[in-house]
Amino acid sequence: MADRESLRERVSALAPWFHNIDLGQGIVTAPEHFLGDYPATKFGEFGACLPTDLSGMTVLDIGCNAGFYSMEMKRRGAARVLGIDWDERYLAQARLAADALGYADSVEFRRLSVYDVAALGERFDLVIFMGVLYHLRHPLLALDLIREHVARDLMLFQTMQQGSTEVGEVPEDHPFYLPGTWTPPSYFDDATYPKMHFIEKRFAGDWTNWWAPNRAGSEAMLRAAGFAIEAHPQNDVYLCRVAPVPYAEWGPAAVYPSKGGMPA
Ligand SMILES: C[S@@+](CC[C@H](N)C(=O)[O-])C[C@H]1O[C@@H](n2cnc3c(N)ncnc32)[C@H](O)[C@@H]1O
Repeated sequence: MADRESLRERVSALAPWFHNIDLGQGIVTAPEHFLGDYPATKFGEFGACLPTDLSGMTVLDIGCNAGFYSMEMKRRGAARVLGIDWDERYLAQARLAADALGYADSVEFRRLSVYDVAALGERFDLVIFMGVLYHLRHPLLALDLIREHVARDLMLFQTMQQGSTEVGEVPEDHPFYLPGTWTPPSYFDDATYPKMHFIEKRFAGDWTNWWAPNRAGSEAMLRAAGFAIEAHPQNDVYLCRVAPVPYAEWGPAAVYPSKGGMPA
């Protein structure tokens, strides 16, 4: 019983938790979560899009928070799981949860920003990039860096989205004016055109939110960074596979700012 009490105290010392994780012994980390049993309920709705057996696969969980997805991937048999996050408070939660659930030696958590993934010097079979993009000031840079440095095959991606869930047709080339007129095309104002809504102030009281793409915007950015969408199991969740980077023939600098400079 003493163990249970000490675990309960360690959990509450690290509150508030964004991940509600069942640590056993009747202890859950965020029983009052505003989204309910989160993210277990969400994972239950889209988790079938991932292989049930990850044996032999390596997983990088970017923005791992308290490690819910990292530990789920280990449960599915992944050979190696690394969770990275920028925030030490969340990493402390992840280490405590992993310890309580017996994953302390098999799931690694490290402080690292998505902007620094090149430092890992390693590619992973599955990259999880859930719930981070809209918190970044430079979201396309993050996708480019993931594609360039750490993604080998699959990427599980989620973003907050706003606006239309329809995806409109976009021309191969945008004219300044409609043919034979001085009128610019009006489709930029269509709700189904790929868009990123900039959030200058707070979103739901949270100043760490910067962007909210519509569905067409999410899909276009994924493609532009060199990811093909294989499955779309939920409105805001995409399973992607590494694909050739479009525009690569313009030179690496056109696509990867990390390589510096503008294309000649
Ligand atoms: C909304 S939570 C999502 C957590 C988890 N991936 C999920 O989907 O439930 C966003 C997480 O991204 C982390 N984060 C924000 N900016 C980051 C960055 N530049 N690099 C790595 N992690 C970051 C935050 O610390 C937080 O843990």
